[in-house]
Amino acid sequence: MVNILVIGSGGREHALSWKLSQSSKVETVFTAPGNGGTENNVPIDVNDIDGLIDFAQKNNCFTVVGPEVPLAEGIVDKFNQKNLKVFGPSKMAAQLESSKIWAKNFMKRNDIPTARFEIFDDANKAQKYVQSLDYNVVVKADGLAAGKGVIVCNSTAEAESAIDTILIKKTFGDAGNRIIIEERIDGIEASFIAISDGEVAIPMASSQDHKRIFDDDKGPNTGGMGAYSPTPIIDDTLAKKIQENVIDKTIQSMKNEGITFKGFLYAGIMLRDGKPYVLEYNVRMGDPECQPITMRMDFDLYDYFVASVDGTLSSMPPITWNKKFAVCVVLASKGYPESYPKDEIISGFNTISNDAFVFHAGTKKSDGQILSNGGRVLGVTALGDSLESAISNAYAAVEKISWPSKYCRTDIGKKGLDFL
Ligand code: AMP
Ligand code: GLY
Repeated sequence: MVNILVIGSGGREHALSWKLSQSSKVETVFTAPGNGGTENNVPIDVNDIDGLIDFAQKNNCFTVVGPEVPLAEGIVDKFNQKNLKVFGPSKMAAQLESSKIWAKNFMKRNDIPTARFEIFDDANKAQKYVQSLDYNVVVKADGLAAGKGVIVCNSTAEAESAIDTILIKKTFGDAGNRIIIEERIDGIEASFIAISDGEVAIPMASSQDHKRIFDDDKGPNTGGMGAYSPTPIIDDTLAKKIQENVIDKTIQSMKNEGITFKGFLYAGIMLRDGKPYVLEYNVRMGDPECQPITMRMDFDLYDYFVASVDGTLSSMPPITWNKKFAVCVVLASKGYPESYPKDEIISGFNTISNDAFVFHAGTKKSDGQILSNGGRVLGVTALGDSLESAISNAYAAVEKISWPSKYCRTDIGKKGLDFL
């Protein structure tokens, strides 16, 4: 039996802890720092790498890193130096997410389909460039900006203002020292996530996120307001195409460049005229995609984490999925993704029936009550025999949870219905 340390405090980490605790090989799952829903919380910050190493050593843990920031800081390399088992990519491999410029150049030299782009550090040159284009663009800060450093523009004026925001006003700090200006691709977005050991990659079930704060994809981008799995947008033929032209090609190209990619590889895909383009890579599970995906796993996730670390994924049995659909509706506090109230008492947890599960994100426990403690607060996730029934099961559970500033989109999963 093994102990697990899951690093992070979001809905994704609650889902990973929940799934790992079901493994017959796992003794105790610790979560650092965790949230109001995770058990065995350890009060160590995700960026306190020495503190996390110390805990993993003392408790003999296999460690799973949830979020991107410690991965970009090289947490995996540091655990490896201490001979500790840890699931996730090295600092070099994490560049696929930590530097969008590195990722774009990597895709370009390895012929991985992505939007055409140019790189700038000079605002004047960037302004002149967008004025010369006859198509809309997306302006992206190079570094990590908590999902906010991407500005999708509808006109040259918006592009000029985006350049100003990132390069002159430095709204995203040093993450915006350099920018990418890329062609805006209008199409349908989906998430394609695989687990790799650096040699092969096994696809997870497909999913679709809902990034904008309001219904019908209106308003600013967020970390994700809800997700469902599988998505009918990615049929078997398309899944095969993405697996070969994006996932396998990425893993092999990384290998050819001397970088072993272990961990979850997440390709944010835009489909235009049936062709997949990579909008971005993440080097971790998506949040909230992780919640519906883990809910459908009919296999022991721990075994696959071990195989990723040990480089033995190719000898693992094929993974199997619950045939049902899963829908996760994110409940946020009104005001997110900007400012929002905290410390409000949340009620209704004990009225949730068995076909739904409430993953916590921005919550904390206090005096036996659950309080809101973040922008994205809960991920109410339910299974259903059809996408339609999974949606109605999820929203039935959503109705039972309440706190003063509760907000959610009312159309999670609806986009998928059009493809059935
Ligand atoms: P990223 O963090 O790069 O995934 O960007 C955040 C969101 O911006 C994506 O989920 C898309 O909705 C949008 N986006 C990014 N790049 C493009 C693009 N080239 N064309 C259209 N939308 C994009
Ligand atoms: N849901 C998008 C992300 O995890 O980046």
